[in-house]
Amino acid sequence: MTLIETSPYTNKIKNGSSHQERQEQQKQETLDFIPALHVKDVYKSFDYKISKNNGSSKITNYDHISSEQQQLLSNSTRSFRTSHEVLNGVDLKIREGEFVTIVGPSGCGKSTLLNIIAELDKPDSGSLLIRGTVNDINNALSTKRIMIFQESALFPWLNVQENVEFGLRIAKVHKERRRQIADKYIEMVGLSKFSESLVYQLSGGMKQRVAIARALAIEPEVLLMDEPFAALDVQTRDLLHEELVGIHKTTGKTILFVTHNINEAILLGDRVIVLSSVLKDIKKEFQIDIPRPRDPESPELYEIKKQVLREFEGDLQIAKRK
Ligand SMILES: Nc1ncnc2c1ncn2[C@@H]1O[C@H](COP(=O)(O)OP(=O)(O)O)[C@@H](O)[C@H]1O
Ligand SMILES: [Mg+2]
Repeated sequence: MTLIETSPYTNKIKNGSSHQERQEQQKQETLDFIPALHVKDVYKSFDYKISKNNGSSKITNYDHISSEQQQLLSNSTRSFRTSHEVLNGVDLKIREGEFVTIVGPSGCGKSTLLNIIAELDKPDSGSLLIRGTVNDINNALSTKRIMIFQESALFPWLNVQENVEFGLRIAKVHKERRRQIADKYIEMVGLSKFSESLVYQLSGGMKQRVAIARALAIEPEVLLMDEPFAALDVQTRDLLHEELVGIHKTTGKTILFVTHNINEAILLGDRVIVLSSVLKDIKKEFQIDIPRPRDPESPELYEIKKQVLREFEGDLQIAKRK
């Protein structure tokens, strides 16, 4: 699966420049073309234990059962182990500064993929390259890929400022510098007036803004977002879409944003990746060159939506049969 076009730089070598200059230029262009993130041939299955007792079957996630419990179960029931394949060789390259959205129906493996990228989970095989370097769990790259979840996972006993400073405190950034950085991002998400507020005093939308500021404060190479606005009301979500587009423009961050909502995916992404639970792989990608902010009612976006929906068809048939 090729997900990236040929480098736009390859034909840009200037005529008449010296051999050495050309070599330097080529070297630079190769560097320019290294993806910020390359998910390479990733496979992932989950193991389950199915126990049959008096004709009824019970599926249990195998990993969550202690060996003693397994022994007890196998004494009283017939059981066998099965595997549920979720990702079947996913290969995805993301350019520096690109805003990529991944869309697919519930259960197709979006969170699994994002968890692997964030190193919250391990693939069965395949690798992760960050700016061309094979990921190694010992080189602390994971702090450079920060995940924002549907539930903001903030610390309720800390105020907004302290939450945003948290990662910097861990990284032992000096107090004054910490405050400076936090102030910058709290302002960027429009919460300057609330920096002393405790998290439980904030609305859902404000909490997600704090989560975004907290993630940006540690200057991640890639911002990973797993359905971050799914629990918000429509108006708040629309507002946060606009703000996220603004933040992407200001910071130039590479963003990988997962959603089951097609409208959201096509409104935000430079590129929309359709993940399929039938293929357990990427089914199609759409490059969207319409400038942001985009009008959700525009005919061009409607046309793209129809095409994305068409890619969903196989998955929807399966959902109906379930
Ligand atoms: N920790 C886990 N143990 C067992 N099965 C899991 C686990 N996490 C996810 N799955 C299964 O993998 C599939 C994909 O899940 P997920 O990645 O959460 O989908 P999505 O985010 O697209 O809704 C689902 O069938 C889910 O039940
Ligand atoms: Mg999910």
